Amino acid sequence: MVYLTRKEHFNAAHRLYVAHWPDEQNEAVFGPCANTNFHGHNFDLYVTVKGEPDPDTGFILNAKELGRLMREHIVARFDHKNLNLDVDDFADRQPSTENFVKVIWKRLAPHLPPGTLFRVRLFETENIYADYFGD
Ligand code: NI
Repeated sequence: MVYLTRKEHFNAAHRLYVAHWPDEQNEAVFGPCANTNFHGHNFDLYVTVKGEPDPDTGFILNAKELGRLMREHIVARFDHKNLNLDVDDFADRQPSTENFVKVIWKRLAPHLPPGTLFRVRLFETENIYADYFGD
């Protein structure tokens, strides 16, 4: 089995907070991510597909096509958006990176050949990322 990863990039704003908590508790738990007037992140998205290379092309999936799907279904939807206000994906959950990888999987998987999506990895900062394997 071979794994192929494609990277795309986008920027988005968010605020992490629990509405019924006092400000001090939100600040203690979420730190700068609780900032009342939102803040931005430079997100690096890595999507990995798995499979055997095609005998003719040598590809699992055309990496250009994977990039196109990521831009069309993920980047175009979230780039330069406020995750709390501009999209409905986080209406019932925090716009955390942990929840974001699940949202991205759900939006992207239907556009890929069944069983090929292996991992969605999203960097929120240089030092923090989340992985989702669809389970
Ligand atoms: Ni944040």
